[in-house]
Order: sequence, then structure tokens, then C-alpha cells
Amino acid sequence: MSGLIRSVEYRRDHVLILDQTKLPHRTKWLRCETVDQVREAIRALKVRGAPAIGMAAAFGLSVWARRFDTPSLTVFWDELEKQREYLASSRPTAVNLFWAMNRVVGAAKRAKDVGEARCLIEKEALFIQEEDESVCRSIGEHALSLLHDGDSVLTICNAGGIATARYGTALAPLHLAKERGWKLSAFACETRPLLQGARLTTWELQQAGVDVTLITDGMAAHTMRTKNIAAVIVGCDRVAANGDTANKIGTFGLALIARQLGIPFYVAAPLSTVDLDTPTGDDIPIEERSPDEVTRISDRLIAPEGTNVYNPAFDVTPAEYITAIITEKGIVRGNYPEGLARLKTNGERNASVTTPGT
Ligand code: MRU
Repeated sequence: MSGLIRSVEYRRDHVLILDQTKLPHRTKWLRCETVDQVREAIRALKVRGAPAIGMAAAFGLSVWARRFDTPSLTVFWDELEKQREYLASSRPTAVNLFWAMNRVVGAAKRAKDVGEARCLIEKEALFIQEEDESVCRSIGEHALSLLHDGDSVLTICNAGGIATARYGTALAPLHLAKERGWKLSAFACETRPLLQGARLTTWELQQAGVDVTLITDGMAAHTMRTKNIAAVIVGCDRVAANGDTANKIGTFGLALIARQLGIPFYVAAPLSTVDLDTPTGDDIPIEERSPDEVTRISDRLIAPEGTNVYNPAFDVTPAEYITAIITEKGIVRGNYPEGLARLKTNGERNASVTTPGT
């Protein structure tokens, strides 16, 4: 589709990563030839968004596998495991990072020799990307079933095409609406401290010709009360088995406002983001990042030197505040433990799992 570029590209001996820290001013591509470079790109948010960091890590393992020279499958597997652990230490919250690498390592474990292991890793990593594109498209279609032509939605951070293989999760309905000739518009929260909303969501939606209006995070309640917002729709980094959801810091506040104002609050999540091994939101590790991200905007200091800072990158929205979770296989409402487990385990396609409850 027009106006949507892929932010991660596999080139066999390297991974090309669109440096999202340079957007919207520059379109700069990083050439990552080593696991170290991929890990640093993830840590520094050059590649970001749960599905995109999973893909980058999977491709990083494939680039490594092509270079690592040993005749011994056991040595290869042991070293692969170390590389996976090293990449896994880049960011803790988004489960897609671990999910994608587990898939690639699982594929390698089916090999009978090192050559076959390399092939299986590469194939699996490419498949993850291909699959993510169709997953995001399906999420967009399900999300559109909850919206109407002419609606305005409010979002935070960037859960768009550049955070996934294509289309995004929360932004997928906006991209698909454009294809259908619908007029959906978006209000994008700027998303302090790193301004993913201001820098990335505005840029991505403008590229796609979608009507987008930028607000600061503090303007969300007023905007939701006065601008006829049909729904809040956000992405997520991990959905716990009970439906609690971790997403960019500020998301929980939007859910509380939405509840108070009677506006639906939707979480758009591929099933790769649903982690049945994490029982509740309290079990999701929340990344804390450098104080510099809060005390500075770009490189400019905006607070007194040495100010105490708390900088959690994510918050958890309890399931009770979520109107529905939109996955590629259906929309889950109400009884999240049952609905999520059913979708995750039985592989139904396009089933609408609307369970009684909220
Ligand atoms: O710190 P970031 O920019 O990686 O945070 C990303 C988000 O919070 C997104 O909403 C989430 O990863 C979903 S991306 C489809």
C-alpha cells in the first residue's frame, strides 16, 4: 500500500533498520552486521514497537548464524542460545522480542546439521515478518468493524506500520479505512518523554494521507470530552493471561479518562503479544529508562541538572478498563482469561470471541 515503508529489512549478511530516532526529519537506514549492532538499535529505540523489535532480533540471529562457522550442531545451538540471551537483555517489556527469538531458536533445534539450522532460522525469521503483515491487516479489519466512516479516534505512542511489518496494530484501521475510502481521523498524543506520537504517528499518518491532529499528553481529557472521540485505540507490548495490558506510559491514564467519559477503550494486539505465561499485569516487567530522556528534549536540558527522575517506559492498564482486545483472530470482550486462552491455543481463524461481561 502507498505511503507505508518497512522499517526492518533482511539482507542476509545484514539487517537494514530505519532509524526511528531520526524521524521525522531524516530517513536514515542503519546497516546492522552484528548482534551487538542489532541489540544497540533495539536498546536505543532506533527500532521500536513490539513486533518490530521481535523481527529485528530474529533477523539479527539469522545474520549471526550465517557467519558463525562450526561443523558441530551442538556448539552452534549453544552459541545461538547465548546470542538469544544477549539480544533478550535489550528491552524487558515487549514479549514479542522473546516470542520471535524463541520461534527462530525452535526452528534451529529441528535441524540435522549446521547448514540446515542456518536455513531454518532464516526461513522462520522471514516468515515471522510475512505473517505479521497479514496479522496486522486482520487486526485492522476487526478494528474497523467497531468504527464508522467519519469517526475520530485517539491514540498514543506509535503502534503503526513502522512498529510492525506493515499497517500497525492501533493504526491499522486508519490505514485500511484510507484504502476503503472511509474518512477516519486521529488525534495523536505526543507521548512524552520520547515523543513517538509527535515524531512518528504524525509522520506515518501524514505519509499515508490520513487526517491526524497532534495534542500534548495533558490535552487528552479535554480533547476526549470536546472532540467527539469515538474510541481510544492503543497498541501494546504485552497482554497478561488475565487481560491486563502493558503499553506506553500514559496509556492507563487514557483508559481511566475513557471510562469516566463513556468512550470505548480498545487495545489492538497480535496474539504474539498475548503472553499466557504472565498471569497478571503485576508480573509484567516494566522497563525504566535513563533520566536524561525526561530531563532533556532532544539534547536540550529542560530541568535543573541532577533533578531526581522516575522514568517508567510503560504502564499497565487493568483488564477491567479495557472495552475489548482486538486480535487478528477476533475481538475479545469481558472474560479475557477464557477468550485469550481460546484464541491463543485453538488456532481458530477470524472467530469473534465476544464473551459476556463488561
Ligand atoms: O518504547 P516503544 O516506542 O517501543 O513503545 C511502543 C509501544 O508502546 C507500542 O504501543 C507497542 O509496542 C505496540 S507497537 C505495534
